[in-house]
Order: sequence, then structure tokens, then C-alpha cells
Amino acid sequence: MNGWKDTVILIGFMGSGKSTTGISLSHKLRCPFDDTDKMIEKNEKKSIPEIFAESGEAYFREKETQLLRELAKKKTRRILSVGGGTPLREENRKLLREIGTVVYLKVSAQTVYERLKGDTGRPLLQGDDPMEKIKKLLGEREEIYKDAADIVISVDEKSQTQAAEEIMAHLKW
Ligand code: S3P
Repeated sequence: MNGWKDTVILIGFMGSGKSTTGISLSHKLRCPFDDTDKMIEKNEKKSIPEIFAESGEAYFREKETQLLRELAKKKTRRILSVGGGTPLREENRKLLREIGTVVYLKVSAQTVYERLKGDTGRPLLQGDDPMEKIKKLLGEREEIYKDAADIVISVDEKSQTQAAEEIMAHLKW
């Protein structure tokens, strides 16, 4: 790729390091960083687990799409990380491409499990046997993530700084 669109968007499974890599990248490229989950939490004045518990996943998915529609209207130079489920809707994938260059942070189920052990902030991974849930969801999503992406970066055993540097090399920055 030669250069990059206004926004660089990080997609990938929960625990792939979208936020931390995004922050590292934003420092290196000297531009702002935003995270759609955080934006939704701010708009709704509730945490993601509260939104899921009180209004349900479908409501949250609608908020994700509404936010992407807004972001597509006023493109700015920034790094944007989005929730792990955002690329699942076809409309969202279209909006992501409109908004910017899409980078998929590819991670294995084992790495996700190690990173998110004991995490309570991801409603979809709560309950018995989180590894089973991770494997199932990751299996369902991997092709979708690949399809949605302009660039794929494998991040197992890479630090966030290394991942950010690899993204910059792809962007020829
Ligand atoms: C989700 C991922 C979460 C958050 C919500 C649903 C998903 O974001 O949007 O819990 O469906 O994968 P992170 O990927 O930032 O954890």
C-alpha cells in the first residue's frame, strides 16, 4: 500500500490488542486515537456489560452501526479501533472501508485465552468454558475479518509496539 487514507481502522477479535496497538500507532503517527466501544459507552453513559445486560446485544449492534454512519460523514485523520463484532454486519464493513484503511490484527484462540483470562468486560466470553466460546466465535469470524481488511497483521507473540511498526511498514509511512 502506498500511503493511507485519513483514518487507519484496527479490527480483530477481542484481546487482539486493537486499543493498545492503536494507541502506540497514534503516538508514532502523531494523530489522535479513538475507540468506538469507548465512544458508545460515553454516548450511552453505561459500560459495555451494562448495555448488553440492560438493552441486549441487538441494541448495542445498532449503536455500532449508527456510530459508523456518523464517522463516515466527517472523516478525520486518526487511528480508530472498533469492537470485535463490528465487521460482522455487511453495512458496517462497507462503512469501515469508506472511513479508512482497514487493518486486521489476527490472533490465535490460545493468545486470546491467555490475554483475557479473568476478564469481566466482555459479555460474550462470560460463563463456563471461555476457550470453547473463543474458538467458536473466532472460527465464525476469521474469514469475515479477512474479507473486511486491506492489510492483515499476525500479532501472536508480538508486542503492541512491534505490531504498530509492522502496520507502519505496510502503510509505507
Ligand atoms: C465484542 C467485542 C468487544 C465489545 C463487545 C462485543 C465482540 O470489543 O464491542 O463486548 O462481539 O467481539 P473488543 O473487541 O474491544 O473487546
